[in-house]
Amino acid sequence: MTMIKVQDEWKSRAKIDAATYEEWYKRSMDDPEGFWKEHARRIDWIKEPTRIKSTDFTYPDVSIRWFEDGELNVCYNCVDRHLKDRGDQTAILWEADEPGNAQHISYKQLHEHVCKFANVLKELGVKKGDRVVIYLPMIPQAAYAMLACARIGAIHSVVFAGFSPQALRDRVNDSDAKLVITADHAPRGGRATPLKKNADKAFDGITGDVKCLVVKRTGDETPITEGRDFWLHEMEANVSNDCPCETMNAEDPLFVLYTSGSTGKPKGVVHTSGGYIVYTSMTHEYVFDYHDGDIYWCTADVGWITGHSYIVYGPLANGATTLVFESTPTYPDASRCWKVCEEHKVTQFYTAPTAIRALMGKGRKFVEDHDMSALKVLGTVGEPINPEAWNWYYNEVGQGRVPIVDTYWQTETGGIMITALPGATDLKPGSATKPFFGIRPVILDPQSGEVLEGNGVEGVIAIADSWPSQMRTVYRDHQRFANTYFQQYKGYYFTEDGARRDEDGYIWITGRVDDVINVSGHRMGTAEVESALVAHKAVSEAAVVGFSHDVKGQGIYCYVTLMEGTEPSDALRDELVSHVRSEIGPIAKPDAIQFAPDMPKTRSGKIMRRVLRKIAEDKLDELGDTSTLADPTVVDDLIENRQNKG
Ligand code: WTA
Repeated sequence: MTMIKVQDEWKSRAKIDAATYEEWYKRSMDDPEGFWKEHARRIDWIKEPTRIKSTDFTYPDVSIRWFEDGELNVCYNCVDRHLKDRGDQTAILWEADEPGNAQHISYKQLHEHVCKFANVLKELGVKKGDRVVIYLPMIPQAAYAMLACARIGAIHSVVFAGFSPQALRDRVNDSDAKLVITADHAPRGGRATPLKKNADKAFDGITGDVKCLVVKRTGDETPITEGRDFWLHEMEANVSNDCPCETMNAEDPLFVLYTSGSTGKPKGVVHTSGGYIVYTSMTHEYVFDYHDGDIYWCTADVGWITGHSYIVYGPLANGATTLVFESTPTYPDASRCWKVCEEHKVTQFYTAPTAIRALMGKGRKFVEDHDMSALKVLGTVGEPINPEAWNWYYNEVGQGRVPIVDTYWQTETGGIMITALPGATDLKPGSATKPFFGIRPVILDPQSGEVLEGNGVEGVIAIADSWPSQMRTVYRDHQRFANTYFQQYKGYYFTEDGARRDEDGYIWITGRVDDVINVSGHRMGTAEVESALVAHKAVSEAAVVGFSHDVKGQGIYCYVTLMEGTEPSDALRDELVSHVRSEIGPIAKPDAIQFAPDMPKTRSGKIMRRVLRKIAEDKLDELGDTSTLADPTVVDDLIENRQNKG
C-alpha cells in the first residue's frame, strides 16, 4: 500500500508537526481534564469553567457534561469578538448560484445582520430555549439565522431545503417549534425551488401556533398568509441593530439536528454550547491548518452537520473567511468548483467523495487550466473514499503538492474524530488515518464486544471515552439515546460503523453496519424509505436495501409487495418513485423498484435482508444459507425479476 510522506512544505507551514501530534495526543489521553481546561481557553468565556469533564458512558444512566459551570455565548465567539481586530475582514464569502455574483460580508456587516435578525426573532416572540426551524437554501441569511438564535439562546433546528414538506412538518412538530424561517425561492443549478410553497404545504399539518419568517431571495411571486407569515426585510426595517448576547450555560442546547438511524423516525440530535464550540473551532484550525488570511471553503449544505460545524460555527469562531456556496459542482459545468477556487484564491477545499467521483467522471479537461496554486489543504467527508477518487483528487486537483485530510465523523460526534493532520500525518489513500486529540477509538469484535488490541484487526469502531462535542441526548428521548449508542457494547459509544486498524495502526472505515445507507454522502435510514413506500395505498410491504453505486457510493433498491388485487406496472413503478421523492425528498429517490410477490422471510416472519442485499448487488453466489427461509423458492423469483439499477 502506498504511503505518501508529509512533504517538507506542509510541515514548515503547519501548526502541528508529527512530534507535536504525538505529544498532544498523549497528553489528551493521560490528562483529559488538564488538556481540555487549557484548550477551552481558545473560547471567550463569560465565566471560565472550573469543572471540565463530567461524563459517564454506563448504560442506561449515560450522562455527558463538559465545562458545566462555564458561561458563554456562541454567537459572541463567532461574531463580536472579531470586531476589534478584523471587523473589515470578510467573514462570509457568498458565491451565488449564477457565477459572477459573489458577495463579501465583513465581520462588521455580519454583526449588524445578526443583531437585526435576532431582534426580529424577539419581535416574533422567540425566547431563550424556544425552538426555531430553519428551512433555507445556502444564502448568508441561513448563517445569520443560526447565529441570531445562538445570540438570544433559542435552539435552532435546520432542515435541509431539499427535504419535502412532509419531512419539514415532522421536524417542526417533533421539536415543537415556534417559528419556521424559509425563503421565497431557492435557486440551485439554474432552477428555482418554490421553497415557501413547500413550507406552506408543511403548515397544513402543523399543530400549534407556529409563525413563518420569509427571506426574499429572488423576489418572485410567493403566497403570504396574513398574520402567520412575515417578510424578514420588512421587519428588519423596524428593529435596532443592537442586540445583547444572552448569557448561556456551557450545557445549554445550541441546536437540534435530525438524522437518520436504523428505525423509522429520524432522531433529534442535541448539541450544546461550550464543548461544541471548543471542539469544532479546534478541529477546524488544526485539521485544515487554518491560518489568518486563508479562504476556507466547505461545499456541504447547512442542512447537514458538516455545514453546522465546518461552514458556520468552527470557521467563524476562528475568525475565518468561510465561503458559502449556493450552487452545485456541475453548474453551469463541471469546472465550477475550480473556477471558484481560482477566483477567490481558496486555500482549503472540503467536499464529499461523491462530488469528487462525479467530477472525476467528467474528465480532466474541466480541472486543468485553472490556477489553484492558493490551495493548501484538501478535505473529504461523508463516506469512505475509494483510492481511485483519492488519487484523482490528489494528483489532478492538488497537483500532488497538497495533503488530503480524510475526515471521519458523524452528526452525533459534532466534530471530526479520525483524520490526518496536514503537517503531521503520512497519508494512505482511503484511510482516515489517526484519531484527533482526545478521541480514544477502539475496534471491537462485533459478536463478543471484546476489544481487539494491536494492529491488523478488523471489527466495529467505538469510542471509549467522551470528547467535548459529543451529542448529549436525543431531543426529548434520553432513553433512545442510551439504547441507540450505549446498550450494545457496554461502556462505549458505538458509531455503528465497521473499521479496521492496519499493520501501521492506521484506521480504515468500512461503512455502516446497521440499516443506514449512505447515498451521495447523505445518510438515510432504509426504514424511512420503507415507511414512505407502505404509506402508498398500493403497497402492502416494502424492504429497502443499499447497493454499491459508482458515483453515489450507494444507491437505493426497493422490494415492494403490492396489495391483493393491485397489478404491477411501469406506471405504478414511476408513481412509487415520485411518491418517495415527495414524502422524503429528491435525495431519497429510489434507483430501482422490484415488485416482489413475496419477501424472503424466516419462519418467525423476519425478512432476511442479507439475501435482499446480495440480490440487489447481483452477488448471487454469496446468498449463503437460504434453507431456513419459510419458503426458499421465493429467492428464485426475486433473482429472476431483478431490476436494472439505472
Ligand atoms: C460515514 C457526516 C468513511 C460513516 C459528517 C458515518 C465516513 C456517517 C466518513 C455519518 C469518512 C463520514 N470515511 N465514512 N471520512 N465520514 N462517514 O451523520 O458511515 O451525515 O457513520 O455525518 O458517514 O454521516 P453523518
